[in-house]
Amino acid sequence: MALVNEIKKIGVIGAGTMGRGIAQVFALYDYPVILVDTEEAILQKAVEKLKEFTKPDLRDKVLNLIVISTDPEKLKDCDLVVEAVFEDISVKKEVLKSINSVCRKTAIIATNTSSISISKLAVEVADPSRFIGMHFMNPPRVMKLVEIIRGKKTSEKTVEAITELTKRLDKIPAVVNDSPGFVSNRLLFALIGEAIKLLEKGVSTREDIDTVMTHGMNHPMGPIKLADFIGLDVCLDIMQVIYEDLNDDRYKPSQLLETLVRDGKLGKKTGEGFYKYP
Ligand code: NAI
Repeated sequence: MALVNEIKKIGVIGAGTMGRGIAQVFALYDYPVILVDTEEAILQKAVEKLKEFTKPDLRDKVLNLIVISTDPEKLKDCDLVVEAVFEDISVKKEVLKSINSVCRKTAIIATNTSSISISKLAVEVADPSRFIGMHFMNPPRVMKLVEIIRGKKTSEKTVEAITELTKRLDKIPAVVNDSPGFVSNRLLFALIGEAIKLLEKGVSTREDIDTVMTHGMNHPMGPIKLADFIGLDVCLDIMQVIYEDLNDDRYKPSQLLETLVRDGKLGKKTGEGFYKYP
């Protein structure tokens, strides 16, 4: 039997922005899901968000298929576990170690990391051939792409199974080899980083930099505004990881970005970043 057909029950660890959205996508396509986080209150908030962002006719189905828990032991029967905890290598390593200790030997373990090396994380699991990057975009229910990242030891069977699974979720897979920032964030942050530097140097205003890309290159959103939507703290973390891994100044976060993050101006989610959000 093809490996993808053995994936029947899904675990998602981390019920934040991405984890709850990933759980929702699986449930929409009829997969039972165990959604794990550290606190009951976080899980309850996730359920509220799921109610808010699921069409009324699909709400019951999604909520019935997703079981919430603070106990990672509940992941033991899952055939695939997707890790979506904080973008912090030490937190992810701890979580992967615990998933590895509770899951069956045959389970596939995936990470939704935006920038941390898959091969570096793979050392925490017993069988790195079944470890892979499954990088959903935000928000998972809307965005079509899933970037599939092949670590040095990921097997082709695992790549094939996750690629096929992605298609069954009505998403579009793109398979890439493990490399700093993968393809998505390597390209995106070259653009965002350069746009912030142009703003910092006074070459143009935030509005005109964004206009060049929206009206000149047909991007749906300009890079300065997009950074605000991603969250400037998230942008800073991702750029820092790519910069350190590649040692390429192009990804060195600029002073302006660091100052905004230090002042708590994190973009849309805090009401102010490069722009103000009333
Ligand atoms: P978030 O901060 O909204 O959620 C992270 C969740 O992980 C929190 O609810 C936290 O309580 C939970 N968590 C932390 N330690 C845990 C543990 N030991 N056990 C169980 N749960 C734990 O973060 P977000 O934005 O959802 O990001 C999650 C991952 O997805 C990160 O790796 C991030 O880089 C990646 N990502 C984020 C995107 C975004 O636009 N926010 C887009 C694509 C990927």
